[in-house]
Amino acid sequence: MHILITGGAGFIGSHVVRHFLKSYPTYTITNLDNLTYAGNLANLKDVDALPNYRFVKGDITDGVFLQRLFQESHFDGVIHLAAESHVDRSISNPTEFVVTNVLGTVTLLNAAKACWQSDLEGKRFYHISTDEVYGSLGREGLFTEQTAYDPHSPYSASKASSDHFVRAYHDTYNLPVVISNCSNNYGSFQFPEKLIPLFINNIVHNKPLPVYGKGENIRDWLWVVDHAQAIDVIYHQGSNGETYNIGGHNEWSNIDLIRLLCRIMDTKLGRAAGVSEKLVTYVTDRAGHDLRYAIDSSKLQRELGWVPSISFEKGLELTVDWYLTNAEWLDNVTSGGYQHYYEEMYGGR
Ligand code: NAD
Ligand code: DAU
Repeated sequence: MHILITGGAGFIGSHVVRHFLKSYPTYTITNLDNLTYAGNLANLKDVDALPNYRFVKGDITDGVFLQRLFQESHFDGVIHLAAESHVDRSISNPTEFVVTNVLGTVTLLNAAKACWQSDLEGKRFYHISTDEVYGSLGREGLFTEQTAYDPHSPYSASKASSDHFVRAYHDTYNLPVVISNCSNNYGSFQFPEKLIPLFINNIVHNKPLPVYGKGENIRDWLWVVDHAQAIDVIYHQGSNGETYNIGGHNEWSNIDLIRLLCRIMDTKLGRAAGVSEKLVTYVTDRAGHDLRYAIDSSKLQRELGWVPSISFEKGLELTVDWYLTNAEWLDNVTSGGYQHYYEEMYGGR
């Protein structure tokens, strides 16, 4: 089995690459990533010497390059994570999100279709998407696989569009596809522009914690390792043409989560109770800020038997421990030093 994983140098992608390399030593895993600001090969330092791993630097919007890669590599499957992923960046620069998330996905679909069309047997194109395509919930209810798409940010609109293209290639060309829509992930190796690693870093450095609006927005948090496990189960056992929602039934308002994080940080840093919370600073709300996300993952649990492995309190503590133990990783990312890693590791290739 030879699987192409796109975006494998990013946060979730690096966990998926690691999970597949360790769980399936007989598979060959090719990680295709063009190393944007969010791509960091240091995320894979512990596995990049494994004989069944290959890194390819390349852009999913480059059709000629992709066709060649597919012809040479004889992939059995694709797990597609490469994307622009940060909502705030999509508000400043929506076009970049259309190019990577929509055009990039269509270009990848075209390469898979061209290479596989003579023999679709055993092939799989797995598209990783987000719960944000469903829009925003009120105080009640959950997103199911039947919830109508209603994206509000340029990021979620681009992900919704890419989901539609993946389904269209299934319906029009019989491409064997599967899609999953997951809630907010947290864990090691997350770029510190996202809420949890940004706030951990700011607490360490006694910097303000910028809470958007009143901090009342609700997100449904899942440990990234559990997401990687769900991706494994869906890749191997999911039904062709189906969608699976992934989530941990773990809703937190931002301010409650931030208070919990501050309490954990006070303990870990040996600070008096309440010191970190004093850094909370309410700032102007995010434009178009979705109020609440909450996932119904009962289809995945019922049909494929996946359940999250740990509680949020435990996962958050493990996450804090990881960032504190790996201060060098965090410093390298915040200083931009990590961008030299590719040159050092792969210079000339
Ligand atoms: P990330 O921003 O950490 O990583 C994205 C990766 O894609 C980076 O390594 C980047 O270099 C690569 N990339 C970007 N443009 C590329 C291009 N044109 N060609 C090749 N590689 C490119 O993102 P993440 O948080 O790990 O998210 C991964 C996927 O999961 C995304 O599709 C995202 O929409 C989805 N998702 C994320 C979350 C979350 O909470 N982070 C939740 C649900 C779904
Ligand atoms: O729901 C899945 C999505 O989760 C993924 O598709 C996205 O790729 C991922 O980035 C994430 O999107 P969010 O916008 O929910 O994540 P973020 O960490 O940016 O913000 C989480 C919440 O915290 C959100 O309500 C905005 C708020 N926030 C965020 C930042 C960065 C703040 O209050 N202050 C901040 O500085």
